[in-house]
Amino acid sequence: MSSYDVIFIGSGPGGYVGAIRAAQLGLKVACVEGRATLGGTCLNVGCIPSKALLHATHMLHEAEHNFAGMGLKGKAPTVDWTQMLTYKDETIAQNTGGIEFLFKKNKVDWIKGWATIPAAGKVKVGDETHDAKHIVIATGSQAASLPGVEVDEKIVVTSTGALELGKIPKTMVVIGAGVIGLELGSVFARLGADVNVIEYLDAITPGMDAEVARQFQKVLTKQGLKFTLGAAVQGVTVKGAKATVSYKLRKDDSTHEMTADTVLVATGRKPYTDGLGLADLGVEMTERGQIKTNGSFATNVAGIYAIGDTITGPMLAHKAEDEGMAVAEILAGQHGHVNYGVIPGVIYTHPEVANVGETEESLKAAGRAYKVGKFPFMGNARAKANHAADGFVKILADKETDRILGAHIIGPMAGDLIHEICVAMEFGAAAEDLARTCHAHPTYSEAVREAALACGDGAIHA
Ligand code: NAI
Repeated sequence: MSSYDVIFIGSGPGGYVGAIRAAQLGLKVACVEGRATLGGTCLNVGCIPSKALLHATHMLHEAEHNFAGMGLKGKAPTVDWTQMLTYKDETIAQNTGGIEFLFKKNKVDWIKGWATIPAAGKVKVGDETHDAKHIVIATGSQAASLPGVEVDEKIVVTSTGALELGKIPKTMVVIGAGVIGLELGSVFARLGADVNVIEYLDAITPGMDAEVARQFQKVLTKQGLKFTLGAAVQGVTVKGAKATVSYKLRKDDSTHEMTADTVLVATGRKPYTDGLGLADLGVEMTERGQIKTNGSFATNVAGIYAIGDTITGPMLAHKAEDEGMAVAEILAGQHGHVNYGVIPGVIYTHPEVANVGETEESLKAAGRAYKVGKFPFMGNARAKANHAADGFVKILADKETDRILGAHIIGPMAGDLIHEICVAMEFGAAAEDLARTCHAHPTYSEAVREAALACGDGAIHA
């Protein structure tokens, strides 16, 4: 048994980042993790492995569709799925090993096992109980279940099973046109699967700027994904090696079926707090199963805090990281803070889709006067040279003050380009500030500048 200033429970992006920051600030820190490797869902079965598969299959897509036109002739590569999974596993190992190294470097103790909290100030792992002045719950989330759908992680899978399929399916039904469904749907479509996405709403990617969502759907359709929108999935039945999804079209209540080798259930995630003993401790929860916290991440039980996917807000690794750093700073007597108005969202398809801040829809709903500066990648020399000219940058700025309120990008490297706008927003910049900043030529980021110019006297290349 040991005594700590703070114990983080969970070593995902919230927990491990918080633990490192707390140690850097002079606290005695431990992090409890029951998985064999550190890094949580993100590093082991989420962001990182899916990005490896997205990268590999994007390379395949380039070889199949763009190489010949650039004068790169030869046989298109064939897919060795086992080797692709090995590459993915090596990527995971490098990243999880990196966290272990950082823990040692920063003197964060890794307590191996699954934690319960028998009382405030106590964390029990196996037979040992550790003392902690502060406990931070960073246990993340798990795939939400869908009535009538039993996941076996072989034929009916969540993202976890999809990252380890025994073979590439010939046919795949994806339930839910959200981030997971579209990223992994893209992976398997590029690998040759016939991918059908069934979505309850009438548009893909709920909450996204509607114009971007429409363009995104067009691009994905061109890449071979098929969409059935306005369709509520009723259930999935497995027979032999196939699964049949039944769904009802909302417009006329008609019932339909679709059969596939693999069904990916991607209908959202829910906080994972099972087994911590929160009910016995009297920790207050929201109706949606999230832990209730105040502005300092404190629960109603003194000494117990929560961050990341276990509390309200977008379920994003980087939001959890920021909360991890903020709670560490608060516990060290500083003023940790997260600006929830500037949290980017990225979908790592090709092209990528990225957003930050307000959408046109949210601004209209708030009755706020705004202007739009838009620039298509067709007008960007680098994008044209790289066969990556699908998409556009759209900046929303206050009509009177020109202050940037939000941005939406669909196009090459959108997930990196968005950060220029995030930084501008953190500094309270006007669109003109971006427009007057010299951008190197030829780069994709010139499209961001052009969109900022379009908020004023006009873009040059449009
Ligand atoms: P999501 O919330 O993004 O999308 C779920 C979709 O399923 C929604 O469009 C919803 O309308 C639809 N749906 C729900 N019930 C349905 C039904 N019965 N029939 C048909 N459609 C139905 O959830 P997703 O994709 O599972 O992702 C979970 C979380 O993980 C999200 O918060 C996401 O932001 C996060 N994530 C983020 C990534 C990134 O930042 N690149 C990558 C992967 C996940």
